[in-house]
Amino acid sequence: MRIADGQGLTFDDVLLKPRLSRVRSRSEVDTSTWFTRRIRLNIPLVSSPMDTVTEHMMAIALARLGGIGIIHRFTSIERQVAEIRKVKRAENIVIRDPYSISPDATVGEARRLMEEKGVSGLLVVGEDGRLKGIVTSRDILFQGDDVPVREVMTPRERMVVAHEEIDLESAKKLLWRHRVEKLPIVDEDWRVKGLITAADIIKKIRYPNAARDRKGRLLVGAAVGIRGDYLERAEKLYEAEADALVIDVAHGHMERALEVIKELKKAFGEDIDVVGGNIATYEGARDVIAMGSDAVRVGIGPGSTCTTRIVAGVGVPQLTAIMEAYKAASEADVPVIADGGIRNPGDVVKALAAGASTVMIGGLFAGTDESPGPIVLRNGKRYKVFRGMASLSARVGKEAVTKGVEDTEVAEYSYSTEGVEAFVEYKGSVEDIVKRLVAGLRSGMSYLGAFDIEELRLNAEFIVISGASIRESYPHDVILW
Ligand code: IMP
Repeated sequence: MRIADGQGLTFDDVLLKPRLSRVRSRSEVDTSTWFTRRIRLNIPLVSSPMDTVTEHMMAIALARLGGIGIIHRFTSIERQVAEIRKVKRAENIVIRDPYSISPDATVGEARRLMEEKGVSGLLVVGEDGRLKGIVTSRDILFQGDDVPVREVMTPRERMVVAHEEIDLESAKKLLWRHRVEKLPIVDEDWRVKGLITAADIIKKIRYPNAARDRKGRLLVGAAVGIRGDYLERAEKLYEAEADALVIDVAHGHMERALEVIKELKKAFGEDIDVVGGNIATYEGARDVIAMGSDAVRVGIGPGSTCTTRIVAGVGVPQLTAIMEAYKAASEADVPVIADGGIRNPGDVVKALAAGASTVMIGGLFAGTDESPGPIVLRNGKRYKVFRGMASLSARVGKEAVTKGVEDTEVAEYSYSTEGVEAFVEYKGSVEDIVKRLVAGLRSGMSYLGAFDIEELRLNAEFIVISGASIRESYPHDVILW
């Protein structure tokens, strides 16, 4: 037994000292950063792989704003893969495998397919793979379900189509000149090669800061575990072209978790980035990196729904954990992800100044329009459920919990949960929260004279503060309304 040197610190224990700054305007600073060794983001924000935080809607919203979402693993492989595909299809300059239907299918079938896939039109393609026409929701509006698609579609002779080489500007002009919303790409034999839609082009213009892959699609990560179907899951997620696999375990400095990093790196090579963790020490980061991890996820116990520190007595205050991990990560040039405990914009600035390249957020993004789950009303106020993934209901399901702890499996788990289930106030769109965090970051960077995130770290000098200073930091001696 020994006592570690120094004192463990977290966000509220410190402030960053301001310094002479050449930054004239907050818009001058560059917030881009590395998520993993190969994935670059435009803002340093990542959403947690929790079932009340990240499914496709959160991932799409965050990637459009320049960050990345990690789709949680607490569902079947098929459903997790479907979530990844939805993100990858959300914006696409050229959709390579557009949804299609046979000319012999019925209007009823077309209607169902459009509804299921959430699209407003389908290409009509014959058995020979050649384009026959297009059918849109407007074509079938007043048609009976039994009418064949060939009778209501716009035939290809009356369609505007393009060939492979078309560039974005020409596509835009064509769509506008003909007042159409969909531009199929075909070869000389009318074989379908892709589809360009006006909606996708508009989104590209609306979100210039979006985080995209090489093909122009939004970035997205996926979580995997270290037991059961994890390898098959990882393979399917890889096939669905997730950009990163995040190994999602409470104790990432466990031999088994380290082995899985190695296993995944061996299976997929440089084709996909693998993130190891969670760890909270220098040794943890060093060992995760030694296994080939492309980023290190740091945080044992800081999460808003986490009770690990109370239940197990284990953890490291988050700012110290980030600094420790950064020591090992900077030697290997691997980015650090600071996971958990972010409550205010200033915490993001402190985490990045301490050595993180990105921050991962759960609670702050929960309760938004984009987080999974319904809004519930309580005493006239709107809430959403948010739960730790090691909480009882997350581990055994809600139904089992209400059945009672007599049930042996529930009883067994109920003694060892390390998370809570809670309500968070409904917060509206996640975009507003992201904007607030990024504005805080830009402000912090300008106080420290940092033009980019690396400079923020280099210029950072923390000062440890007292309880009295914390009280001084928050609004005081006024009545808030
Ligand atoms: P938050 O942003 O403070 O809510 O922290 C989110 C992080 O908490 C996640 O990314 C996880 O690392 C962690 N976490 C999620 N569920 C649990 C749990 O049940 N116990 C402990 N930590 C959790």
